[in-house]
Amino acid sequence: MKKILLTGSLGQIGSELVLRLREEYGNDNVIATDIRRDENNKACTDGPFELLDVTKGEDMAALVQKHRPDTMIHLAALLSAVCEAKPQLAWAINMGGLVNALELAREYQLQFFTPSSIGAFGPSTPKDLTPQVTIQRPNTMYGVTKVSGELLCDYYFKKFGVDTRGVRFPGLISYVAPPGGGTTDYAVDIYYEALLKGEYTSFIKEGTKMDMMYMPDALNAVIQLMEADPAKLKNRNAFNISGMSFAPEEIAQEIKKHLPSFQMKYDVDPIRQGIADSWPNSIDVQCAKDEWGFRAQYDLAAMTKDMLDKLRIKLNIQG
Ligand code: SER
Repeated sequence: MKKILLTGSLGQIGSELVLRLREEYGNDNVIATDIRRDENNKACTDGPFELLDVTKGEDMAALVQKHRPDTMIHLAALLSAVCEAKPQLAWAINMGGLVNALELAREYQLQFFTPSSIGAFGPSTPKDLTPQVTIQRPNTMYGVTKVSGELLCDYYFKKFGVDTRGVRFPGLISYVAPPGGGTTDYAVDIYYEALLKGEYTSFIKEGTKMDMMYMPDALNAVIQLMEADPAKLKNRNAFNISGMSFAPEEIAQEIKKHLPSFQMKYDVDPIRQGIADSWPNSIDVQCAKDEWGFRAQYDLAAMTKDMLDKLRIKLNIQG
């Protein structure tokens, strides 16, 4: 990666990945794009930024011609709960945007990264230690777009030789940008409300385990995979990765170690619970370890301490 163009730069991952890439590769070599501009987001102000609607292939092509990147990181997508509410729009953005981006990767021989998700699995997938290669029959529109995206990336690699790489992200937890419309968002919201209100009402019910990861590990994973020796990659696309797996009562228990009076309540959202129930309890990350050295540094305890420390500063909370 020398010159990188990103889509979805103001989203949950992009807001941090753009800054991290600018540290590593130089501000001018990381071109951030998004459908909106936000002068309070450093992705817009600390380096090149362009407006882009990813469903408009000609506009995307014009930016590739203007900036001549060698790498495209395509992040623009709707998350799981929004996809269920707006399935037609989800297909248009998640798949339409991906096809446009892959076509440019083919035409201009760009190295290519796009995230898949634990949402690419479904109710018939083995739930525990879910293998890298297994049954993928998701029953959500988010999952349908993620599996289709994985297959399309594989196809562009095999048919056209595009250097496509990807990971199946679990729920990503960060104190910087909010996720917005995901099923795993409860595990971000809980930290804010624990500090601000001393209690949290979870929309996911007790006992529902899902894979999660702290954002610093997710950013490292993207860079490590993109810099990995292609000869070592047996799986070309969408590696299982995860930092931890927990249920709502387990994260609540960890928060209580720091905030003993914290109270957890439940008011289950049937839509998001249904999505969570269709996803694995915990996935097997061995292929990512073997093929490109993936390793997560944060477990639930380390992440919880860091989230609370960083959010206290962000929210200006003493003690
Ligand atoms: N965090 C995502 C979601 O809940 C999972 O990929 O939609």
